[in-house]
Amino acid sequence: MTEETMASESIDSILHEERLFQPPVTFATKARINTRERLQELQHQAENDYENFWAGLARQEITWQRPFQSILDSSRAPHFRWFHDGLLNVSYNCLDRHLAQHGQKTAIVFEGEQGDTRRISYTELHREVCRFANTLKNIGITHGDRVVIYMPMIPDAVIAMQACARIGAIHSVVFGGFSAESLKDRIEDAGARMLITADGGHRGGKIVELKAAADKALAKGCPTIEHVIVCRRTGHDIDMHAGRDIWWTDAVADAGEKCEPMWVDSEHPLFLLYTSGSTGKPKGIQHSSGGYLLGAITTMKWVFDIQDNDLFWCTADIGWITGHTYVAYGPLAVGATMLMYEGAPTVPDGGRFWDICERHKVSIFYTAPTAIRALMKLGDALPARHDLSSLRLLGTVGEPINPEAWMWYHHVIGQERCPIVDTWWQTETGCHMIAPIPGAMPTKPGSCTLPLPGITADVVDEQGNSITQPDKGGYLVIKKPWPSMLRTIWGDDQRYISTYWDKFSGKYYLAGDSARRDQDGYFWIMGRADDVIKVSGHRLGTMEIESALVAHPRVAEAAVVGRPDEIKGEAIFAYVVLRGKRPEGGIDEVLTGDLRTWVGEQIGPIAKPDDIRYADNLPKTRSGKIMRRLLRTIARGEEITQDTSTLENEGILLQLQGKE
Ligand code: WT7
Repeated sequence: MTEETMASESIDSILHEERLFQPPVTFATKARINTRERLQELQHQAENDYENFWAGLARQEITWQRPFQSILDSSRAPHFRWFHDGLLNVSYNCLDRHLAQHGQKTAIVFEGEQGDTRRISYTELHREVCRFANTLKNIGITHGDRVVIYMPMIPDAVIAMQACARIGAIHSVVFGGFSAESLKDRIEDAGARMLITADGGHRGGKIVELKAAADKALAKGCPTIEHVIVCRRTGHDIDMHAGRDIWWTDAVADAGEKCEPMWVDSEHPLFLLYTSGSTGKPKGIQHSSGGYLLGAITTMKWVFDIQDNDLFWCTADIGWITGHTYVAYGPLAVGATMLMYEGAPTVPDGGRFWDICERHKVSIFYTAPTAIRALMKLGDALPARHDLSSLRLLGTVGEPINPEAWMWYHHVIGQERCPIVDTWWQTETGCHMIAPIPGAMPTKPGSCTLPLPGITADVVDEQGNSITQPDKGGYLVIKKPWPSMLRTIWGDDQRYISTYWDKFSGKYYLAGDSARRDQDGYFWIMGRADDVIKVSGHRLGTMEIESALVAHPRVAEAAVVGRPDEIKGEAIFAYVVLRGKRPEGGIDEVLTGDLRTWVGEQIGPIAKPDDIRYADNLPKTRSGKIMRRLLRTIARGEEITQDTSTLENEGILLQLQGKE
């Protein structure tokens, strides 16, 4: 937590939104949960006995190979265990159990950026997952081994994830936009034995060179990797390393179509997913099997109101938690049909999303505020060209949505017919935590509304006391464990405890966000309260970017902060102190270009600073602490009102402001 967030008045809210939107009648009449009473009943059950509330759902929603007796085991808190003596397989729950009645139902409708399409039924998906699972086994991957997946948004990526789940291997998906360097760090931290990648993917009219990046990562280290399976997607030329690399099609050629699932205990890690925190090193968030699956299923039903004839489209990449819970697992676990799209929203033009919605008749559409803002900026004519009448529910995730973008989504895309579910959650929480139940409660533009049944979210002050005064900001916490919570940080239990639990002495889970509640108890997320920024909904640690900058031979020191950006939510602002002289007038476009490229290579293009400002020093107190709040003020171009007299070197303020 940074020094300035301590002052709770600094996170008091200035935003006041009064509009209230009742569930549209046409939506509510058909919704699973469509009365306030039904919702209250769920909430009461959860409040009266939250352990049995979750246990009841776990028995009802999951097919267990061996039922659990133990519900919640807190003996090693905060390493909570849920349903730990139960045995299950997540892939079985996503595939096999639907085959008898829904084998012919489409599981995945795929569209590539270049327009190619593919429909895969549950029976076909099951067969492909079994074949690939057998392949992994034949190569020697077993229960508990880590497998890194670095793939484009194609069904094969889901097949790879499901195949790992089927044999009890732990996958760790690395977003295809991350660099070779980031891939290497994640492979090494996880100690992965295998890498599954593709020759490349199509994105933004270009080829993303996944295999080339993978080769670079492996050339630099990753001694634990024995084999690389390469899926052919783009068909362009790549290098194959004899003895190490195998084409997917060759690897599965003689794999059997039947693969008995490996029954694992509920706590068996299903996957690791690396995310940024307040240090330079990303953390491997470890999720369980049973508890995670339960969260994915309940939220598919409660928040997305998923029904048999829906076509569900979550635009998130499988490299993020959203692409895990609401692409690779949740929709399949409930036997739904989902759409998967490989490419960018702007190819061939900014109407691509609406075109896909129209042609495939998407009924539930879930995306990020940054995409909504970018598409809104392109004007109403693009969506107007498409028939969006198949849509019945819209969702957003990843960062706060500004009321203006919410209203545009509501009017222009939802045509006032579709509720909007603004879903607050995190990589760590596994599934939605604070989100509307769209058939049973009104929404407000910009608010993620109320915690879901069983989720004890609250806003507390520095001492951990609930803030009861409306609109007063504080720390967002979760007061009781929930099934889909993270279990630890891979290989670093201590960091798990210090990051999430120490602040409130092990009592509450600290989300890292600041939030407020209004007079109706609705939650309004105000942003991160730690050194994490959200750039186009992507989570980046400012320290990570600083470490990348400092690793450049010409950089002595760096400080990175976020500044508001109309489309991206936040943009990256870097203050850099060079070894040697500061450039004349603070401008060196060549070096700035080099540093941006450098950060792109160290982390990935999403982490490239938008602004770089050179100074002779950073604003430090006499004790050597960087005054980040001051840097944020300057990055926003605001007047400095804070006391700068404690600065060691007040003289650099003009340089930092770009005035000298
Ligand atoms: C952080 C988690 C959860 C999937 C995608 C992001 C921010 C997330 C919302 C929302 C306001 C939100 C928070 C949170 N965030 N959803 N609906 N309204 N802020 O996962 O990368 O783990 O990031 O995203 O700051 O802590 P993530």
